[in-house]
Amino acid sequence: MVQRQLPNPAELLELMKFKKPELDGRKRRLDAALTIDDLRLIAKRRTPKAAFDYTDGAAEGELSLSRARQAFQDVEFHPGILRPAPDVDTSIEILGGPSALPFGIAPTGFTRLMQTEGEVAGAGAAAAAGIPFTLSTLGTTSIEGVKAANPHGRNWFQLYVMRDREISYELARRAAAAGFDTLQFTVDTPVAGARLRDKRNGFSIPPQLTLGTIINAIPRPWWWFDFLTTPKLEFASLSTTGGTVGELLDAAMDPTISYDDLAVIRDIWPGKIVIKGVQNVEDSVRLRDSGVDGIVLSNHGGRQLDRAPIPFHLLPEVRRAVGDDFTVMIDTGIMNGADIVAAIALGADFTLIGRAYLYGLMAGGRQGVDRTIAILRSEIERTMRLLGVSSLAELEPGHVTQLTRLVPVARADAEARIR
Ligand SMILES: Cc1cc2nc3c(=O)[nH]c(=O)nc-3n(C[C@H](O)[C@H](O)[C@H](O)COP(=O)(O)O)c2cc1C
Repeated sequence: MVQRQLPNPAELLELMKFKKPELDGRKRRLDAALTIDDLRLIAKRRTPKAAFDYTDGAAEGELSLSRARQAFQDVEFHPGILRPAPDVDTSIEILGGPSALPFGIAPTGFTRLMQTEGEVAGAGAAAAAGIPFTLSTLGTTSIEGVKAANPHGRNWFQLYVMRDREISYELARRAAAAGFDTLQFTVDTPVAGARLRDKRNGFSIPPQLTLGTIINAIPRPWWWFDFLTTPKLEFASLSTTGGTVGELLDAAMDPTISYDDLAVIRDIWPGKIVIKGVQNVEDSVRLRDSGVDGIVLSNHGGRQLDRAPIPFHLLPEVRRAVGDDFTVMIDTGIMNGADIVAAIALGADFTLIGRAYLYGLMAGGRQGVDRTIAILRSEIERTMRLLGVSSLAELEPGHVTQLTRLVPVARADAEARIR
């Protein structure tokens, strides 16, 4: 028999720990987001469909992106036990300078479209966290504006080499003059990928108002208020005649860029040069031998060639082929700090985040980007602790198995033949 008694008011009072309600709506919203996926959902609610889809979407059937994310989810970790790791050190040396965390912010075009604070929010959050920020050639804040938002931290510049070479070279010279220390030369855009969501939404730059856009705007008044009450949304470094993003890319990019361009850029750029958009072992080795400082294994977040190789799958093979001394970075599909830990364990020197940053930006401007970084930081620290490592240098391939649900058929065949 359970013995019963009357409820004791003192005990009841002890249980009632009502929290003071958070009156700042933005903070309340962001604090409730525990993962990057949570931030994505907030972003979707608050951003007009065309702008959200431009960010969230990828090319054609969006297979490159979903496979890349799946590949990270298919990681199996192997923790060590009884290895005291009371403190974890997440700092790392990359391209001649420090970063407090093993990731930086990837270059993204048209960032103020997602939320009006745009690159200033990204660069400011990067400055506060001590990580590098990359400004895109297609950015919506000037080189000098980014420098002002991140005056003492590391700024990197992403270069598209355009048909009119002089425009590109001039931007590189300006970025170097502003103290940007690394140039990412993007090479995976000979033509624009087919971003079908943008086509279906009739998305163009500058955005056009249609009946559909107006109906979609009604539950998203704050985005529109920001849009209409802040400086005009435009490319900060380029002048354009407008059109779809694909049309703009196709008009500006030169499909004939080659190793010759690399030599010219080497002459112009005094800092480090990395080639972004590398997608096979042979190119990685050739680039190492050409004297660049590093590469980014990337398929542009799945926004260019659909069904492209998954950068995370390429990583171990590329690391083996280029040796330990060449800088290999990776992006595409990172949605969790554990993804970053897995990439470092398998040989990446550094990682870049694109959408994870933009979801935070859309969810809450600068504070949203701070939240993205805080979420990834806590996931990285927790994963390291659970693996039993106290520094990134202790991570090694033995900590990770890539489960092989997605081994390409051709490779599976070849492996079977070897066996
Ligand atoms: C909205 C958006 C715009 C982008 N613009 C550029 C760009 O201007 N230049 C570039 O090199 N990469 C660009 N990228 C690719 C990113 O730099 C990065 O490679 C990619 O976002 C990584 O994948 P993730 O979004 O899954 O992190 C863009 C990506 C997104 C999502």
